[in-house]
Amino acid sequence: MNLKQLVGIESAKYIKDGMTVGLGTGSTAYFMVEEIGRRMKEEGLNIVGVTTSHATEEQARALGIPLKSIDEVDHVDITIDGADEISADYQGTKGGGAALLFEKIVATYSNENIWIVDESKMVEKLGAFPLPVEVIPYGSDQLLRLFTKKELNPKIRTTADGNPLLTDSKNYIIDLYLKEINDPKELATWLDHQVGVVEHGLFLDITTRVIIGTSESGVKTIE
Ligand code: 5RP
Repeated sequence: MNLKQLVGIESAKYIKDGMTVGLGTGSTAYFMVEEIGRRMKEEGLNIVGVTTSHATEEQARALGIPLKSIDEVDHVDITIDGADEISADYQGTKGGGAALLFEKIVATYSNENIWIVDESKMVEKLGAFPLPVEVIPYGSDQLLRLFTKKELNPKIRTTADGNPLLTDSKNYIIDLYLKEINDPKELATWLDHQVGVVEHGLFLDITTRVIIGTSESGVKTIE
């Protein structure tokens, strides 16, 4: 079993009957969703899922997981999702899979947020992984210029054919190649205030539990 599968399965243990569960996106969250599907089938687990991307929605539907949109639920009990980087003080970046907008909305209305990662995602400081910023297409070249002026090394994320990648909300992603983020809160606040920015991948003060897959000792949970 690989580390992503290990943490995906481990995280599903926190899901109890009757919960409304935020279903994250990505290759690690994939295993958690599969495990929920298995528990529903084999153990009679009964939950409602709130998905964070079209990809996860498709997977969950195929497994027969009942779904509601974030607007149809009062709150989410627990959201389980992957991350691109987690710093020593448990701040994170997300959006490598371009699902950051729905992921942040679902996380915001969730009582508990569990992140599941393999050990390669644990870093001292955030920033080596490009930081995604979701922007509306109109004015995106202006934002690129602004980010360049601010020395944030921006690059529009493209598909294999060279066209801008479109998110589930039909926006663009600008990745910031920063190497190191010295003050994540300052950068998050600045990005929050730029016109045309829909959301960014800095997920600060959000996680309540991190489950790490390590090759040495298997699963390590930090609460
Ligand atoms: C998608 C995400 C993912 O959770 C993040 O990119 C981690 O993905 P993976 O588990 O495939 O490494 O934020 O937008």
